Amino acid sequence: MQLPFAVRNPSLLTQLTPYVVAAPFNRPLLDVSPFGASPATVIDPTKLESASFLDLLHRLDGLTFGPEGMPMPKWVFYDCAEIPGAIYGLACPAERLWPVARELFQVPDGYAGLVPLSMYIALPMQTRGVWFGHNLASAGPALRTAGLLDVDLRGLGALTKGLALRCFGARTFWGATQWLSKALFIHVKFGPLRLATAWTPAHSEHETLTYGFDVTDASLRASMGDPTVTLPKIDPDFWLEGHDTTAMRDLQDRIEAGERFVIPGAPRHSQGAVHVPITQVPAWGPGLGHGLGG
Ligand SMILES: CC(C)(COP(=O)(O)OP(=O)(O)OC[C@H]1O[C@@H](n2cnc3c(N)ncnc32)[C@H](O)[C@@H]1OP(=O)(O)O)[C@@H](O)C(=O)NCCC(=O)NCCS
Repeated sequence: MQLPFAVRNPSLLTQLTPYVVAAPFNRPLLDVSPFGASPATVIDPTKLESASFLDLLHRLDGLTFGPEGMPMPKWVFYDCAEIPGAIYGLACPAERLWPVARELFQVPDGYAGLVPLSMYIALPMQTRGVWFGHNLASAGPALRTAGLLDVDLRGLGALTKGLALRCFGARTFWGATQWLSKALFIHVKFGPLRLATAWTPAHSEHETLTYGFDVTDASLRASMGDPTVTLPKIDPDFWLEGHDTTAMRDLQDRIEAGERFVIPGAPRHSQGAVHVPITQVPAWGPGLGHGLGG
């Protein structure tokens, strides 16, 4: 597949092929050729013929979120993702799949369809164009750990999320992640993240932050590594250490008191510590805030 701009790892575009999981009633609202990419293979979760692919997708979830302690039961996948939302990802046809991946995914003998190597799931919220991210998964790290070292899958997570948000027609995005999650490195590629929560007991992982951003051409292209796009840079006011639950609670109190903060850039990892930059802003104005007021 081709895109009209350069991405961080162009080999992903030549090696992999896109797919979309969408119920027939949601399908017409999706752009299956985001940025003019080759049309994604549409998987209809209401059809029996989709069962093997969806089993492999569930396996991808287990391989990536299992170690994080948050694998999805199959019914959650169906009720809370495949039917009400949309899934976009990149896959490899089974006949071209590397043996180590075939083993990791336990691809059934005789299966000749696509094997999903990444997925992004999001759900539409009440306001048109506002989406909530439910799951980002990339088999890249698991395949590297399993010994697939001669195939370059770097950038797979970011490319998948960027193309997916365009496919879904998202204009405003909200998501939740953990302060220590590696995925935070991907989320900040879309620009400054508005912080809606910093300490979240409503989530099974209390050290969860809820974040949002405006989805623009620039934010999507920047996320995928287009070198011609530069997003505005904001200096941090302070750094929050990703294990410091007291700092998370203090920040949560300040957010609830009406103060506004963004994460302006990538975390810094050193010697087991993770420092996330935080900047106070007067308001979530254009480019910084939209959709939750203030
Ligand atoms: C998180 C996940 C999607 C990343 O997938 P991936 O294919 O490795 O992602 P990418 O290669 O696109 O990006 C990873 C980025 O994080 C950076 N990164 C990761 N760990 C880092 C570290 N310790 N220090 C600095 N950068 C780091 C990488 O360098 C890369 O950024 P770059 O492209 O600017 O170099 C994958 O590990 C996964 O599926 N994890 C389990 C599920 C999960 O946690 N999902 C997110 C829930 S919000």
